[in-house]
Amino acid sequence: MHERPENPPFLDSLQRPLRDLRISATDRCNLRCTYCMPREVFGREFVFLPHADLLRFEEIERIARQCVALGVCKIRLSGGEPLLRHGIERLVGMLAELRTEDGKPIELAMTSNGILLAKKARALKEAGLARLNISLDALDETIFHRMSGGNVPVAAVLDGIAAAQAAGLAPLKINTVVKRGVNENEILPLIRRFRHTGVIVRFIEFMDVGLTNGWLLDDVVAAHEILARIDAEYPLRPIAARYPGEVAKRWEFTDGGGEIGIIASVTRAFCHGCGRLRLSTDGKLFTCLFAGKGVELRGTLRARASDDELRQRIAAAWLGREDRYSQLRHAMTEAPARKIEMSYIGG
Ligand code: GTP
Ligand code: 5AD
Ligand code: SF4
Ligand code: SF4
Repeated sequence: MHERPENPPFLDSLQRPLRDLRISATDRCNLRCTYCMPREVFGREFVFLPHADLLRFEEIERIARQCVALGVCKIRLSGGEPLLRHGIERLVGMLAELRTEDGKPIELAMTSNGILLAKKARALKEAGLARLNISLDALDETIFHRMSGGNVPVAAVLDGIAAAQAAGLAPLKINTVVKRGVNENEILPLIRRFRHTGVIVRFIEFMDVGLTNGWLLDDVVAAHEILARIDAEYPLRPIAARYPGEVAKRWEFTDGGGEIGIIASVTRAFCHGCGRLRLSTDGKLFTCLFAGKGVELRGTLRARASDDELRQRIAAAWLGREDRYSQLRHAMTEAPARKIEMSYIGG
């Protein structure tokens, strides 16, 4: 387990320390999950970022290094699907070298859909990746296709999970977004499949992220309902967070079958502990998943800014940060006009 540094915390305007950096390695994906990249929007005509607009690995590493100097101790690679970025193992290797002020390695994790993992798990581990969270919304083939917007077989993800386990990428977590009337009956099958395996399944309330996924409050299955369904068959008790500001609430089976998590960003916002900074595929820094606007860093880098200048720009973004969208959502009368898509901002 990686320790989090006690000090010196670098605080935003709501006194939250900068701790996590989430990097979108690519805005592309080999799935079209309805809640993230619905096919009607991200179809054949959709224009993804041209290669020249993507941050190069050396640029990502420079930004990450300055974030670590400001207190980041965990870096998560996501996307889109990060394994679609050519040579991602090299980026993993570069980021795994980063050290905090007191010389400790940073915790390097990835969120992936698992499809390419059977091929890549071992190389990722060897390059220095510590942990993986893998998205899987159903075991039933038809329901999986409905959620993931295609016809990739469930077996591809299950093979990826097995490969990640064999490579020692632990603890392995599964992310399951729950949508009312689509996959809520998959909650218990997923629990049964992964109990006693060491794999931690986490159920996520469907969020109103971006502007394209047709989000409706009626489609959200609330955390308390998810919990009640599981607890009725496999009794649970709460356990402590792994680290301050952890997104998932943790529960363990009273019979020793392992643990699960629930991510209730709609019904129980967790902005008060949010120390997450996000770097988009094309080098913009976002201080919230629901932000409309980011701080441009690619131009700064390509204009040959010094490390000090770069760090000052990142520091200024954090110091001025007052985002707490999920906490304020209920008081809003209408949705913000500008919201970025999750595949672009890095989940
Ligand atoms: P670990 O706790 O390190 O395992 O990872 P994580 O849960 O922070 O990362 P992961 O990428 O697996 O995210 C799981 C879910 O939580 C995804 O649906 C994320 O979009 C959501 N999530 C992560 N961070 C935030 C956040 O800052 N705000 C909101 N609203 N949701 C978040
Ligand atoms: N609501 C909740 N979770 C989402 N994810 C993507 N879009 C949404 C959404 N609208 C999840 C994916 C993935 C993680 C990075 O974010 O399931 O596991
Ligand atoms: Fe791709 Fe993940 Fe978005 Fe699904 S949730 S479309 S797998 S980036
Ligand atoms: Fe953090 Fe914004 Fe999510 Fe709140 S809504 S937890 S501030 S990213």
